[in-house]
Order: sequence, then structure tokens, then C-alpha cells
Amino acid sequence: MPNPELEKFRAQSRLFALLDEPGQLRLMAVAKTEVHAPGGVVVTQGETGDAFFIVSEGRLDVLVEEDGKSRTIASLDRGAFFGEMAALLGETRSATVKAATPVTLMRFEMPKVKDIIADYPTVRQVLVRLALKRGEENLTEQMQHDFT
Ligand code: CMP
Repeated sequence: MPNPELEKFRAQSRLFALLDEPGQLRLMAVAKTEVHAPGGVVVTQGETGDAFFIVSEGRLDVLVEEDGKSRTIASLDRGAFFGEMAALLGETRSATVKAATPVTLMRFEMPKVKDIIADYPTVRQVLVRLALKRGEENLTEQMQHDFT
């Protein structure tokens, strides 16, 4: 029988396509909905954090602070993930993520998703690959910013 709530989750992110239905139901069960007004800070550069997020609605800016100045390095729209760098690689938050419009997010806390991720290694692979790719992009962006 179709599960309307599960259909809504599947429509929000391709992450769900990496799991079978029991896995999707497990992930859905641990997701927390979070809303932020424009300007609301979701994660702060330099802090520790063990949650990652999927954008359900709205847009957020990714800001990097250096020498007391902050610059926007990316924007995140519906369906995008963020927070995976600290949550999966165990690093501090690499950037500040701030709501640019009213946003609705799905929040996944690592202690609650780690068993699910262990059962579906492709989910971990996708998130770790994304984290490494963004880390590389940010290094390039920072070098261009500092040396050009
Ligand atoms: P994390 O380091 O946990 O917290 C800040 C988040 O911003 C980071 O995880 C990524 O999810 C996101 N982020 C960092 N750099 C980029 C980028 N270049 N493009 C998109 N998102 C990014």
C-alpha cells in the first residue's frame, strides 16, 4: 500500500533512492523537522557537530569566515545535503550555513543514523564522497581567494 509520508520523503531527496523500503522507513523514523527564519544560523564554522541535514524547502547560504571577514562560497536548495563533512569525517564545521529564505530541514543525528548507514554502505560512500569533493573545492576556492 502506498505510504504518503514515505512518498513525500522520497520526493525530497535522492538519498532515499539508495535504500530499500525498510531502510527508507528507518531513516524517516529518525529524521527531525527543523524550521529557520531568514538569517537563522543552522551550523557554525569551527563548532563540532554530529548532525547532517537535507533541505526540504527554501535556500541557505554557505559562508566561510577568514580574517574576520565572511564570504559566501555556495548556496543550497531543496534536496541538497549539508553538515555531512563534520558528521561523517569527524571534523569541526568547515563553514557557517545560514537560511537565506524561510527554510524547512530534515535533521539526521549520527548516533541515530549510524546503524542504518552501517547496513547501507552506499549511503556512507555518497556522503563521504560529497564531503571530500566539497573539501577539495573549498581548498581551491581559498587558494584562488588568497593568491589572486
Ligand atoms: P560541515 O563542515 O559539517 O558544516 C558546514 C557545511 O557546509 C559542510 O559540512 C557542507 O555540508 C557545506 N559546505 C561546505 N562547503 C561547501 C561547498 N563548497 N558547497 C556546498 N556546500 C558546502
